[in-house]
Amino acid sequence: MPTTAKPLTERRARTEHARLAASIKAHDIAYHGHDAPTVSDAEYDGLRRRLGELEAAFPALAAPAGPSDSVGAAPSEKFRHVRHKVPMLSLGNVFAEAEVGEFAARVRRFLGLPTEAPLPVMAEPKIDGLSCALRYEAGRLVLALTRGDGHEGEDVTANIRTLDAVPKHLSGDDVPAVCEVRGEVYMTKPDFAALNRRQAEAGKPVFANPRNAAAGSLRQLDPQVTAGRSLSFFAYAWGELSALPAATHSGMIATFARWGLPTNPLAKLCADADDLIAHYRSVEAGRAALPYDIDGVVYKVDDLAYQARLGFVSRAPRWAVAHKFPAERATTRLLAIDVQVGRTGSLTPVARLEPVTVGGVVVTNATLHNEDEIARKDVRVGDRVAVQRAGDVIPQILGPVLDPVAPRGEPYVFPDHCPACGSAAIREVDAKGEVDVVRRCTGGLVCPAQAVERLKHFCSRLAFDIEGLGDKQIESFYGDGLIHAPADIFTLAARDKRSLKKIADREGYGATSVRNLFAAIEARRSVPMNRVLFGLGIRHVGETNARRLARHFPSMEALRQIAEAAGEPASEARAELQAIEGLGDVVAEALADFFGEAHNRAAVEALLTEITVEPMEAIASSSPVAGKVIVFTGGLERMTRDEAKARAESLGAKVAGTVSRKTDIVVAGPGSGSKETKARELGLMVIDEAAWLELAGAGA
Ligand code: IVH
Repeated sequence: MPTTAKPLTERRARTEHARLAASIKAHDIAYHGHDAPTVSDAEYDGLRRRLGELEAAFPALAAPAGPSDSVGAAPSEKFRHVRHKVPMLSLGNVFAEAEVGEFAARVRRFLGLPTEAPLPVMAEPKIDGLSCALRYEAGRLVLALTRGDGHEGEDVTANIRTLDAVPKHLSGDDVPAVCEVRGEVYMTKPDFAALNRRQAEAGKPVFANPRNAAAGSLRQLDPQVTAGRSLSFFAYAWGELSALPAATHSGMIATFARWGLPTNPLAKLCADADDLIAHYRSVEAGRAALPYDIDGVVYKVDDLAYQARLGFVSRAPRWAVAHKFPAERATTRLLAIDVQVGRTGSLTPVARLEPVTVGGVVVTNATLHNEDEIARKDVRVGDRVAVQRAGDVIPQILGPVLDPVAPRGEPYVFPDHCPACGSAAIREVDAKGEVDVVRRCTGGLVCPAQAVERLKHFCSRLAFDIEGLGDKQIESFYGDGLIHAPADIFTLAARDKRSLKKIADREGYGATSVRNLFAAIEARRSVPMNRVLFGLGIRHVGETNARRLARHFPSMEALRQIAEAAGEPASEARAELQAIEGLGDVVAEALADFFGEAHNRAAVEALLTEITVEPMEAIASSSPVAGKVIVFTGGLERMTRDEAKARAESLGAKVAGTVSRKTDIVVAGPGSGSKETKARELGLMVIDEAAWLELAGAGA
C-alpha cells in the first residue's frame, strides 16, 4: 500500500511518540513483567528505533522519565525490591553491517582518535536470557538481583544460590571487597526441551522458549522449584567494584573466569569494523548449533578508560552496541485459515501452513492477529506467504508472495458466526464510535469454547457464590458432561440420584462432601436479581451495571422483553436501555446482542425454571472491604474475633478460615504464625489491627 509522505511536524511527531511510548511500555510489561512477549524482537526494536528518531528530531519529546529512559518493566510485587547501586542499563542496537563502521567512527570522533590509532573492541554473543547482578562481599555471594526496571530489581538471592553455574564464593587473592558481577541467566536448549517434556507430562503449561523458561524458573517464590530447573550463567559485565582488577573489558572477563565465574568462549577481541563483522558472521553461522539461544553479537570498546570517557546516553552506553541477527524468514503455502475461539469469546484467525523450517524450527501454524490484518495483507487460502519467526514469539505471516501468472483464490471472508457454537459473532463499537479489532462470539452461555469460564463466573463469589463448586470441580464436571449450562447445576442432585455413576464415588468426594455441595446449591435457588444478571456474564454487565438493571426492571422477563426488542438499534426498547442511568449505548447493545441470541434466551429460561429471582439485595456497603475475602489471624486487642467477623460481614466482606489465593486481606495480630507467612508468600495484603479498624470505618 503506498503511503503519502507527510512532513513531520512537531505535533505529528508528538502524537506518534505518545503512541509508540504507550505500545513500548505495554510490550515491556508483557516481556519483563509477565515473561510473555507480545511482539517479535525485530518489531520491538523497530518501535524503539523510530522512537529514537523522533526524539533526535524533536529533543523536547525525550522526557527524562520517558520510555527511552527506562529499561524493562517495574519489578514485580512478589519479591523484595532492592535499588541497584549502579543502574543496569540496556544496549542500543544496529542491524545493518554498515552501521558497525558508523559505531566505530562515532566512538573515534567522540574520543578524538585518529583513524590510524588502534581501537580494540570485544565482540561477544548476545545471550538470550535475563540479566542478573550478583553481589559478592569479601568474596561471598550476598545478593542477587534481577534487572527490574533498571533502577530497582527483585531480590532473587535464594534462587540464584541453587544454580551450580554461580559460585557461592569467588576464588583469587585479587577479589575486591565489594564486587558486583553482572551477566545473563539462561537455559540451555537441552534443559529447555527436558523441562517442557516434564511440564507436558505433568499436565502443566509448557514454556514458549528458553528465555521465558529461564525467567519463569528464576522468579519462583520457592527456591526448590528453581533448583530443579537447571539454569546456567555467563558473566559479561559488572556494577559496583571496590577495586578495578583490570584495565580492559577483555581483562575483566579473563579475571572473572579466573575467579571461577563462567564466561562465554566465543568472545573475541577485534581490531576494526571488518574484524567485528567477520566475527559476527562466524557467530551467526554457528548459531543454530550452539546449545543456547543468542540473538546477536555485542560490541564493547575494550579500553576501560575509553569506556569511562564515552559514558552513557539515556538508557545505553556509548561504548557498546548490540548487532542483532535479522528475524528469520521463509516462504510456504497457506493451507487454511482456522478461527479459534478464546475463553472470552474472541475469534482469532490461525494460519495453517505447509510445514517449513524457519530458523531451525519447523513451523506449521502462524498468527494472523485479526480480521483487519488479513484484509490489510490480503492473504488468501492457497497463497504462497512469507513467514517470520523472531526466536521467541509465535511465527507471523508477513504477507503473500505472489506469482504474477498463477490464479489466486477468493479474498478471505471472516466468519460472522462462531465456529464453535454457531452464535452470531460481532465487533463492538465503543462510545467513541471505534470498532473493536476483535470479533467476539455472543453465545457466552452455550458456546463450548467459553462454557467452562462462564460457569466459573456464574458460581463465583459475587454471582451465585456456590460453595464447593470451585474452578476445579467445574472443570471436572464439565469434562464429564455433568454440567454444560447454568441450569444444569440445579438439576445435578436430581440427576445424581438417578444415576449409577454417583458423584460420591468420584475421587476426592465422599458422602459428606456431596451432601454439602448439594446443600450449597439448594441454598442458592433463591437469588437476588443483580447476582443473576452479573452471573450471566453478559459483556459489560459487571456488578454495577447488574444493579442498575435490577433496579430498573421489575423482573428478568421484563428485561428480556426489552433487551430482545432492542436488537433494532432505532427501537424504543434500545432507547429505554440507553436511558437507564449510567448504562449507555455500549451496554445497551451488549444486552441486545445477548438476548438477541436464541441459545442464550433458552439458557436463561432453563435457569429461571430452576431458581427464584428475588429483588435486588441491599448494597452491603460502599465500604472498601465489601466483596473482599478476609482472614483474621493472631490476637486482636480492640475487639473479639467474633466481633471483628460480624463487623466484616456487615460491611459485605466474607470471612474465611484459611489463607489462599482467593484471600484479599489478612488481618494479622500478634502470634499470627503460619497464616501470615503464607499470606506474605502469596503476596497478599497483610494489615494489622489498627489498619483493619481504619478500613472498617472504626479507626481512631
Ligand atoms: S552488556 C551496559 N553483554 O542484552 C551494558 N548484555 O539489550 C550492559 N545481554 O540487558 C549489557 N548478552 O540482558 C551485554 N554479552 C552481553 C550480553 C548482554 C546478553 C543482554 C542483557 C542486556 C541486554 C541489552
